Amino acid sequence: MTQTCADAAPVGDTGRVDVTDLDRDPVRQLANWIADARAAGELMPEAMCLATSGAEGMPSARFVLMRGLDDGVVFFTDYGSDKARDLRDNPRAAAVFHFSAPVHRQVRVSGSVAKTGAEESDRYWATRPVASRRSAIASHQSSVITTRRELEAAVAAVGDAPEPVRPERWGGYRIHPEVVEFWEEGQDRLHDRLRFRRDHEGWRLERLSP
Ligand SMILES: Cc1cc2nc3c(=O)[nH]c(=O)nc-3n(C[C@H](O)[C@H](O)[C@H](O)COP(=O)(O)O)c2cc1C
Repeated sequence: MTQTCADAAPVGDTGRVDVTDLDRDPVRQLANWIADARAAGELMPEAMCLATSGAEGMPSARFVLMRGLDDGVVFFTDYGSDKARDLRDNPRAAAVFHFSAPVHRQVRVSGSVAKTGAEESDRYWATRPVASRRSAIASHQSSVITTRRELEAAVAAVGDAPEPVRPERWGGYRIHPEVVEFWEEGQDRLHDRLRFRRDHEGWRLERLSP
């Protein structure tokens, strides 16, 4: 049954995750679950597996770090990478977070993707350790190289400026969620699955069979 977020509180909903427990903004809810996972000892709860597919339709997945949650899910990367080529040809993505024991949860997000503005990329760039900034300048992500030494020589060639400037080819993306699903392990495989879907009126929340 589909419900609007305003009235999503069915009587007798006895799963471990009740719809009444959830924030009506799924991005805020994701932030809550990341905080729960961190408090429970998850070392890198902001790691998410990001799936893209380009012009040829071949799916491709890799982990990236979520670096912002606002009206979307933000990550940073090289705009010359394979994932960036996919996103240029097909600006949509799916991402999944996994939080292991004791929380046993998964969150799936999918939607359209847009580059962050240069200022936002600059702000995040400035928070990175200087050595990581130099590496990002030297490494043209996803390009083929002959040896590791070649890469190290490229890093040395970047020089030792105290504030390395962000190359234009490095920056952020924001996934604007259209579907967000919260999954929590239940007894005897009767897991909870609660899915938010965005339509022209806002978020709709529905419970799915596990
Ligand atoms: C836990 C983890 C976090 C990662 N975070 C990022 C990230 O935030 N940005 C990034 O570009 N690559 C990150 N990587 C590396 C990517 O998984 C991947 O190797 C790289 O982005 C190139 O992917 P592509 O060739 O599909 O574009 C991370 C890898 C791991 C294992």
